[in-house]
Amino acid sequence: MSAELTADHVPARRVSARIAAIAESATLAVDAKAKALKAAGRPVIGFGAGEPDFPTPDYIVEAAVAAARQPKFHRYSPAAGLPELRSAIAEKTMRDSGYAVDASQVLVTNGGKQAVYESFATLLDPGDEVIVPSPFWTTYPEAIRLAGGVPVEVFAGPEQGYMVTVEQLEAAVTPRTKVLLFVSPSNPTGAVYSPEQTREIGLWAASKGLWVITDEIYEHLTYDGVPFTSIATAAPELGDRLVILNGVAKTYAMTGWRVGWMIAPLDVTKAATNMQSHATSNVANVSQMAALAAVAGPLTAVDEMKVAFDRRRKAMVSALNAIDGVECPTPHGAFYAYADVRGLLGREIGGIRPATSAELAALILDKAEVAVVPGEAFGPSGYLRLSYALGDDDLAVGVARLQEFLGSAKA
Ligand SMILES: Cc1ncc(COP(=O)(O)O)c(C=O)c1O
Repeated sequence: MSAELTADHVPARRVSARIAAIAESATLAVDAKAKALKAAGRPVIGFGAGEPDFPTPDYIVEAAVAAARQPKFHRYSPAAGLPELRSAIAEKTMRDSGYAVDASQVLVTNGGKQAVYESFATLLDPGDEVIVPSPFWTTYPEAIRLAGGVPVEVFAGPEQGYMVTVEQLEAAVTPRTKVLLFVSPSNPTGAVYSPEQTREIGLWAASKGLWVITDEIYEHLTYDGVPFTSIATAAPELGDRLVILNGVAKTYAMTGWRVGWMIAPLDVTKAATNMQSHATSNVANVSQMAALAAVAGPLTAVDEMKVAFDRRRKAMVSALNAIDGVECPTPHGAFYAYADVRGLLGREIGGIRPATSAELAALILDKAEVAVVPGEAFGPSGYLRLSYALGDDDLAVGVARLQEFLGSAKA
């Protein structure tokens, strides 16, 4: 081929506009930076990662070891998931959400993240709008945009417990709205909607004819006696315009095993399975067998983890609220505290005056050697997300450093 001909055929862009528009996951980026600094010998405390510090329970690991020894699990298996796992997920959904589904409605995915991506890809046409309560988990808007959809953010600040109201949703709905995203307990805020709020929002969505995609991945992590409410059972009026997302990562300390799922009406599940059959096929069988042991087994391990998370939650929230310029509402779910740091912005800290929470987070990492995720990753500036799913000793050192560093802020 002549050089001239090649030049003629060089496309204008190397990376497509669609993919170039995707931002790096800010939470993973903060975690990677903290780990790199740690590897370089800096004593960084990481409040960035959204993963339990506990090992996966032994009986789950044993199930994986046994599966790895069976040649049938060395082969391809059905793209939608192992039939026994799909059935166990259907049963578990009845146990935990009170919602009756058939195993055929379950699609086993490569982590909850793939379920998020596939559900938006399956439901959205270009220009379809999705109402996304904010602060939101950083992946949702990217998954919506990748599918050609338009995320419409509805912000709820700390004065309303980071929970949106029906009035706010009503103001955001348009003739292009197809989906409402509902996440409780929430990442990044830890907010948990009450049964009444959940029903009210579900009824509103039903009255508008919207689909609801609900992410229940933190269902077992609630505190202070606050119950988890599934919008599926709180508002049966939604009928079949409902997709439930979930996974084993948070409940069973299985973030690295990569098993999640989506539950949808049969036509949607079938369409999503077709897509997955071309993209990734079945999830690793060994991981699926581990997930089977998890979802078909007891909830004792998560109950034990919860005791530790609860202790750390209280320690972190009271330490944060003791810092002048920081306000942190008590989170009732997940394992995150979402601190309002607007009172610190513009003040002199460590020799500079951070104007945004992104600048403040960078300063904290550099000067106090503590990794936190800035609010910009989840919505407006002015907030920091701190995960308390780390060891008690590290947590104590980290919050002491924050108190000392941020406590030095001058007017
Ligand atoms: C709200 C929420 N949904 C889904 C996920 C996906 O988890 P995974 O892909 O590890 O199963 C996460 C992980 O951080 C999350 O916070």
